Amino acid sequence: MKEHFLVTGGARLVGSVMVDGAKNSVLKLMSAALLAEGTTVLHNVPDISDVDYMVKVLEGLGCTASASQGRVEITVPAVISSNADIDAVRQFRASVCVLGPLTARCHRAVVALPGGDAIGNRPLDMHQSGLEKMGAVTRIEHGCVVAEADRLTGAEISLDFPSVGATENILTAAVLADGTTVLDNAAREPEIVDLCRMLRDMGAQIEGEGSNTITVTGVDRLHPVEHHVVGDRIVAGTWAYAAAMTQGDVTVGGIDPVHLHLVLEKLKLAGAKVETYPTGFRVVQDQRATAVDYQTLPFPGFPTDLQPMAIALCTVSHGMSVITENIFESRFRFVDEMTRLGADATIEGHHVVIRGREQLSYAPVWSSDIRAGAGLVLAGLCADGVTQVYDVHHIDRGYPGFVENLCRLGADVRRVAGE
Ligand code: UD1
Repeated sequence: MKEHFLVTGGARLVGSVMVDGAKNSVLKLMSAALLAEGTTVLHNVPDISDVDYMVKVLEGLGCTASASQGRVEITVPAVISSNADIDAVRQFRASVCVLGPLTARCHRAVVALPGGDAIGNRPLDMHQSGLEKMGAVTRIEHGCVVAEADRLTGAEISLDFPSVGATENILTAAVLADGTTVLDNAAREPEIVDLCRMLRDMGAQIEGEGSNTITVTGVDRLHPVEHHVVGDRIVAGTWAYAAAMTQGDVTVGGIDPVHLHLVLEKLKLAGAKVETYPTGFRVVQDQRATAVDYQTLPFPGFPTDLQPMAIALCTVSHGMSVITENIFESRFRFVDEMTRLGADATIEGHHVVIRGREQLSYAPVWSSDIRAGAGLVLAGLCADGVTQVYDVHHIDRGYPGFVENLCRLGADVRRVAGE
């Protein structure tokens, strides 16, 4: 059933909120479970629809998998299917992370390519060339990416760009390859570090995660483990922006603030007072935010996944901001929806120029992806009436209990049935 949100503007968000494990980590950890026969258990798992899709993908490969109450249990048989040409895979982009584990375990992987993506073209050339360096033959065939390798061997691989997905697929293939793989210009995101920690606990030999160069020496087999998923820095960052936008006072727990260092620095520049703790932070904004410029970059740069929240804040800040998107070419598509809410925003190539105004004007708006949807809800909190946000199934893919948490912080947001 289709649902939408009714967001009433004007509330100041105050209180505390906890974040669960990161969507962008748990899906890869679930996929990495394929590397070891037996039962893997993940804790701190977010209650989001992408986890349910990933359960279906693993079941389609012959595993038993279930997710409930913050826990995922996956039992991997001795023999798994190498064929992930299934509908569940096409549903969401992240399922391409089964490519590395399937190539390593089955010597052959057929993975359906996901459909078009609202945030831009997402090719797999670096995933393919990394596996090819290790001896695989890859091709795109009948809507699937196919990788075949009688034997994977360690290699020196240098990525053109520190792609998160390519780094993950190369790592999860290299852990069972013969010899040593040196991956240069690797992604440094906290979710990559989380994956490496779990792989190491499974018996993999990995060094250098969190730096540009990761070295992996292949082993014969891995064993299943229990693992606690790293906190979701994008959800935590969304709450930080919600506090700043509503001139609120929000404490966020369940997150290492180091993972949001630049994000919190940007909020300080916008006028927020920020306190950090070992596993959380507090953002207090007691006056209208000041305009700040942003450019998205791979970690530790400003995350592209928080760009919609940054834009939302800039639309109600004092002054002019320039936001530069360097990761996904179509990520400004949602700016038209922001304009519908009265935002003064002009797109020029991969920059958007925003002149902040005191208040936005309520309107019906449509989410095009997870983060754009969350950004529109935040914008609705600063509008002069009730904003209807449609296509909220996108938001449900990445934000557990979004409406409930907003209400707990004092917002007036309701989920209602209907187109
Ligand atoms: C992951 C995250 C996504 C986040 C992104 C960047 C998941 C499920 N998704 O996506 O939320 O926004 O990292 O932090 O974890 N590229 C190529 N060729 C390749 C691979 C990537 O050209 O073979 C390009 C992409 O088109 C994009 C850029 O590299 O322009 C970054 O993509 P990548 O880091 O791979 O992002 P994802 O892993 O898809």
